[in-house]
Amino acid sequence: MDIVLKTENLKTFYVLESMGEKKVVQAVNGVDLNIPRNEIFGIAGESGCGKSTLLKALLASLEPPLQLIDGKLLYLVDGEYLDVFSLSDDKIKELRWSYISYIPQGSMHVLNPVKKIKETFFEFLESHTKRKDRSEYLNLANEHLKELGLPSRVLDVYPHQLSGGMRQRTVIALATLLRPRVILADEPTTALDVVAQRAVIQLLKRIQKEFQNTIIMVTHDMGIHAQVTTRMAIMYAGKIVEEGPTDELFAKPIHPYTKHLIQSLPKIGDKEPREGIPGSPPSLVSPPPGCAFHPRCPYAFERCKVESPEFVKINQNHRVACFLAD
Ligand SMILES: Nc1ncnc2c1ncn2[C@@H]1O[C@H](COP(=O)(O)OP(=O)(O)OP(=O)(O)O)[C@@H](O)[C@H]1O
Ligand SMILES: [Mg+2]
Repeated sequence: MDIVLKTENLKTFYVLESMGEKKVVQAVNGVDLNIPRNEIFGIAGESGCGKSTLLKALLASLEPPLQLIDGKLLYLVDGEYLDVFSLSDDKIKELRWSYISYIPQGSMHVLNPVKKIKETFFEFLESHTKRKDRSEYLNLANEHLKELGLPSRVLDVYPHQLSGGMRQRTVIALATLLRPRVILADEPTTALDVVAQRAVIQLLKRIQKEFQNTIIMVTHDMGIHAQVTTRMAIMYAGKIVEEGPTDELFAKPIHPYTKHLIQSLPKIGDKEPREGIPGSPPSLVSPPPGCAFHPRCPYAFERCKVESPEFVKINQNHRVACFLAD
């Protein structure tokens, strides 16, 4: 299995200071990930678990108050692993969009509301490519849209003239213009209706297949993960608690948190909405000691309150951080 992107004990915290008081939000707290090439990898977890912060870290986009505390981020570029945090800002900028690109959560803001979409595409190409003129840009944009099955008329309108779903697909087209090897997509389907969601999912699948690249998709929606991803990681309180092939996770979830997430999915025939997980994720300023899930876990015992569980390998592809998996 080719690993295209990996992290080793990655820790990125928000360090906030106001009136002499320091507050540290441990948003990404020791994450080890190995993302295989050529597939759609999912990251799931409830609101506030650190999913978006993890994507910012994977993009090496750490702006205050977000700080790198520890760990490594490695990209496989031309057959070699680059230690991203040791690169110059210029080199990181060069990798961004051409090697790795990002579709931010609530990505509608990416499109300038007072400009035709064409202009946003041109500006993007201008700042990331060299010596091209507008007609060349127009050709590139048109071809790319065609490749993705999107109508080229989107270039001639303003963002507000598009439906939410079409706007999101346009943002995805923009983020993939330079054919990045890795795409980070943060909640790309959230806030869209079911029909628009399906179109976005189809587009992401098409991009993955056509360009043989890697998509890392974050969403709290387990239903979307089941439809789109081949592997996934479950995140809780800044840590990965379970990782494995999506099918296997759904068929045989091991971590109590993964079980809860899957059980809370609505099923056909449900008359009442399913019960979510009792309680809510902890504050990441002072997460609970031991396993951070223990206060909500129906199976917690003494050890869970004091000791943080290491990963246990269920098989070659599946690992879980839970004492019960031992
Ligand atoms: N700019 C910031 N400054 C300080 N704390 C932040 C900032 N952004 C996020 N946080 C905190 O970091 C933690 C993780 O947030 P993050 O946005 O990564 O979670 P998430 O899993 O993406 O949630 P959601 O599903 O709601 O998008 C939360 O406790 C959040 O309050
Ligand atoms: Mg988020």
